[in-house]
Amino acid sequence: MPTIESRHGLESRAGTTLFLKRWLRRPFAMGAVIPSGRLLAEAMAATTVRALEGRPGHVVELGAGTGEVTKALLAAGIPAARLALVERDPELAAFLRRHFSGPAIIEGDAARLPRLLAERKTGPIAAVVSSLPLLSLPTGIVNGIVHGVFDALPRGGALVQFTYGLSPPVPRALRQQLRLVGARGQRIWRNVPPAVVWTFRRPQEA
Ligand SMILES: C[S@@+](CC[C@H](N)C(=O)[O-])C[C@H]1O[C@@H](n2cnc3c(N)ncnc32)[C@H](O)[C@@H]1O
Repeated sequence: MPTIESRHGLESRAGTTLFLKRWLRRPFAMGAVIPSGRLLAEAMAATTVRALEGRPGHVVELGAGTGEVTKALLAAGIPAARLALVERDPELAAFLRRHFSGPAIIEGDAARLPRLLAERKTGPIAAVVSSLPLLSLPTGIVNGIVHGVFDALPRGGALVQFTYGLSPPVPRALRQQLRLVGARGQRIWRNVPPAVVWTFRRPQEA
């Protein structure tokens, strides 16, 4: 009979193996060979909790994969009933359904976010947290995703997004078009590769 610790280890290994399999299928859509490390997932969750600033409504996670950031969001105190996970890959969405019973799991393309949320009658959105590989997706798709996120968010609501790159993960043209204000977190050197968590908001007056 496996102990809780060994069961966690087995589940996490199963997640990593599935992640790698899906990366071999669609490297650009996955953007990473293995799931986010614990420190990065914790930094994403802590940034999201701070960014909420008491706003009511759902926290929407884009590109939930095998749920590493999801686990950190739950551990940081965001109730499962307040979480909606969007994942386009059917095998990863099925994995999420098997491992998370509380959050709403929406199998679909983040580029259709406002429509997906309306179909699920999710209600108001408080923040969006994304591990989508924005820098490796084509410009047109990134435009669609980021416009969709800020159509879904109320003014002042935050998009939390990580990047391995040096520049902000939302391209400058889009930031200017939507008048987004970005705030950069500290680089997490102990993640492989090192990553930075950014927060983008459209101020009330923009
Ligand atoms: C870098 S992985 C992050 C997975 C997980 N959140 C983590 O941090 O380990 C990116 C995820 O985004 C998903 N994805 C890519 N494009 C997407 C899209 N347009 N809509 C929804 N999910 C997408 C991929 O299938 C993959 O699971």
